[in-house]
Amino acid sequence: MKRGILYRSGGIKVSIVITAFVCMTLTLLVWKKAPLVAFLIPPDRLDVLSPATRMEKPVGSVKDEHEHSSTDRTLSSGTTLKHLNGEKPYYVPAVAPMTYSRERSFEQQKDIKNVTKLHMVEKGCNYAKGKWVADNKWPLYSGFECKQWLSSMWACRLMQRKDFSFEKFRWQPKGCEIPEFEGSEFLERMRDKTISLIGDSLGRQQFQSLMCMVTGGKGSPEVENVGWEYGLVKAPGALRPDGWAYRFPRTNTTILFYWSASLCELEPLNQSDPVTNYAMHLDRPVTFLKRYLPRFHVVVLNTGHHWNRGKFQANRWDMYVGGKPNSDKKLAEISNARNFTVHSIVKWLDSQLLKYPWLKAFFRTMSPRHFVNGDWNTGGSCDNTIPLSSGSEVSKNGSNDPVVESAVKGTKVKLLDITALSELRNEGHISKYSIKSSTGISDCLHWCLPGIPDTWNEILCAQV
Ligand SMILES: *[C@@H]1O[C@H](CO)[C@@H](O)[C@H](O)[C@H]1NC(C)=O
Ligand SMILES: *[C@@H]1O[C@H](CO)[C@@H](O)[C@H](O)[C@H]1NC(C)=O
Ligand SMILES: *[C@@H]1O[C@H](CO)[C@@H](O)[C@H](O)[C@H]1NC(C)=O
Ligand SMILES: *[C@@H]1O[C@H](CO)[C@@H](O)[C@H](O)[C@H]1NC(C)=O
Ligand SMILES: *[C@@H]1O[C@H](CO)[C@@H](O)[C@H](O)[C@H]1NC(C)=O
Repeated sequence: MKRGILYRSGGIKVSIVITAFVCMTLTLLVWKKAPLVAFLIPPDRLDVLSPATRMEKPVGSVKDEHEHSSTDRTLSSGTTLKHLNGEKPYYVPAVAPMTYSRERSFEQQKDIKNVTKLHMVEKGCNYAKGKWVADNKWPLYSGFECKQWLSSMWACRLMQRKDFSFEKFRWQPKGCEIPEFEGSEFLERMRDKTISLIGDSLGRQQFQSLMCMVTGGKGSPEVENVGWEYGLVKAPGALRPDGWAYRFPRTNTTILFYWSASLCELEPLNQSDPVTNYAMHLDRPVTFLKRYLPRFHVVVLNTGHHWNRGKFQANRWDMYVGGKPNSDKKLAEISNARNFTVHSIVKWLDSQLLKYPWLKAFFRTMSPRHFVNGDWNTGGSCDNTIPLSSGSEVSKNGSNDPVVESAVKGTKVKLLDITALSELRNEGHISKYSIKSSTGISDCLHWCLPGIPDTWNEILCAQV
């Protein structure tokens, strides 16, 4: 959006700025008095205000006190480091809580040395097509146990929710088998490697899911917080860092998440203004990705739910192209802007893959929302609790996120297409069961964990 077009008159501009400032001040006052106000803000907005969001805003903007993830507390305490300094780091194999008996088509699954070969065999598989099948071995970790990695705002087992049948399905791709996920086998395969997820709150869900999957949800004091190696440290006054990075010492595997809702480079237009707008460079990848790409072995990008007018205004993003404010009216339409950005980033990433041949790059497609009878702010809900009541199978060929699909086509960037398979799972959202759900607002955007993002990771891990 180009403000110049919308607000030609300086007078209007000034009054809008003043109004915005007054609103901001009031919001902050109310917030300070009653952090619970967070629960009056629809879930979709929470990530505008949230941690992650901080990095898209000047330091010291809205704090987000509504969530104290146990992750932060556990890992900032220093126990991990002391532990590591005091004795030889050890690793408790991340055996999933239950034993598996799922029929395997690959006997050599247990033979770690052969797993690489196994994954080559799977290469021709289209993971996006297939069906959900009931599997009593799921979920892969417990929503009660995985407190170290799982934010309480996403742990539906800690909420009022009573139905958990949605946890008991796995994805069966058509014509091939996903190797059963096993944490220690995965880490072995990822020895000395760094896996990086970059994106919005749905990307953060995928990150937390992966941490729980790899550890089997068990407490893992040996895991080292290495956020500082990636500049992921909490700024003074901020509640949380811009992302998290953890290392499993036995295999020297690093898994990290960086919050970037748009994947664009953001540049404050006025450094000294605490409520500055940002130049959102549609044609420049976010700085974190550019800076640290040479260190990554697997990178998974996503962007989707912030591409709407409300989010642009809340984040104070002004579109820039070629280093200048965008003047192309067609591109200013947000769906075109997302398409342009996704194509730009994939093109850039593809060019980088020549320099870093060890790198596997994925672009995850859009995670679907399931609001019915309204949107997040108009009483929309997702009350269905019966799994797969609208079908269990995906048989169509193309992706339901044609923007990402077309962007990766002809490049070495892989499509992590989870849109259609997740569309079948409208019962898997947080729904009306947020930790303190007294507001009647449903979250039909984020997923319960354990839940659907575990399957995204299973599909991802089958391809790395
Ligand atoms: C891989 O598996 C095959 C048969 O499944 C076996 O003959 C071979 O020795 C295994 N390779 C290694 C390196 O263990
Ligand atoms: C751990 O892995 C990183 C690559 O991610 C590598 O640079 C580093 O040398 C490894 N450290 C050890 C002790 O092997
Ligand atoms: C930048 O922000 C500061 C503080 O709000 C303000 O005083 C200054 O005039 C702004 N500069 C420009 C160029 O707008
Ligand atoms: C998306 O962008 C690409 C590259 O700029 C362009 O070729 C394509 O037509 C666009 N698709 C849509 C649906 O706008
Ligand atoms: C889907 O793709 C497969 C293989 O690429 C092809 O054989 C099949 O005809 C396609 N189906 C449809 C409905 O387009």
